[in-house]
Amino acid sequence: MKPLIFNIYAPDQIMMDKIQNELEAEKGEVNAHLFPDGELLFRFESSLKNREVILVATLDHPNPKLLDLIFFARTAKDLGAKKLTLVAPYLAYMRQDKQFQIGEGVTSRYFASVLSSCFDALITVDPHLHRYKFLAEIYTIPTQVVSASAVIAEWISKNIKNAFLIGPDAESVQWVSDIAERCHSPFIILEKTRYSDHDVKMTAPKILATDEQTPVLLDDIVSSGWTLTEAAKTIQPHFKNKILCVAVHAVFSDAVYRDMCAHYKAAVGFELNLVTTNTVQHVTNKIDVSQFITDVLIN
Ligand code: R5P
Repeated sequence: MKPLIFNIYAPDQIMMDKIQNELEAEKGEVNAHLFPDGELLFRFESSLKNREVILVATLDHPNPKLLDLIFFARTAKDLGAKKLTLVAPYLAYMRQDKQFQIGEGVTSRYFASVLSSCFDALITVDPHLHRYKFLAEIYTIPTQVVSASAVIAEWISKNIKNAFLIGPDAESVQWVSDIAERCHSPFIILEKTRYSDHDVKMTAPKILATDEQTPVLLDDIVSSGWTLTEAAKTIQPHFKNKILCVAVHAVFSDAVYRDMCAHYKAAVGFELNLVTTNTVQHVTNKIDVSQFITDVLIN
């Protein structure tokens, strides 16, 4: 029987259509009813008995989405779904991977434990693996990680002549080195110290760049944009060409994006030029990762 695919918080229709078409999946129908008191009830119009069910929900700004995911999954299981796979192009809470301050918890573990108790499998794109090397350290269900490196490298090779790649912090070395190798470009990694959400300081190693090279700043997540801005401020004086910023996950609201653009312009001296993948929908999305997700689902 064909898998059933549901969209609750899919980042964009391109991704939904691609997954659905390539899997020859059937589009699932579900109604989310909100009672006058704000309580939620899912009613599935499609029959789930013994069906493989795929839910596409990207998890930026995850808190208001979480109860929907839990109730969706619990209802689907009660109605007989055989296997329930969560495709979360962006996976939240991965950055809270240790106790940073006394009195805090490790929310990556709590989030992983909730999702693991609801779904049978998880597929995501470039989760923020830093202190954890594998999702299996916190997720108890089978997980598969899709890397956006190949498609980012392809985009850079097609669009930028003489790219010089820059990673803003130690975590970024994993994807920056991989993309640099694929693009045959040089790269450096900056040193970042974060004092608070909006207080980030950078230092750079010696940069020997030619006038022809274009600096490409690469990060996995852009949230407040302070990392990008501080990194751009640090490296721009070493280059003649303007910096291009590329990120996998555009994890910010419109209001934050407006502030980020204004702050970047004031600090760096020109407009922010940001390109992202479509794991979270945004006007900066120029790189489509849907094919990689589809490949993992098919195999
Ligand atoms: C952190 O280690 C990540 O790789 C990103 O650099 C960080 O999450 C970006 O956050 P923001 O845009 O708030 O500086």
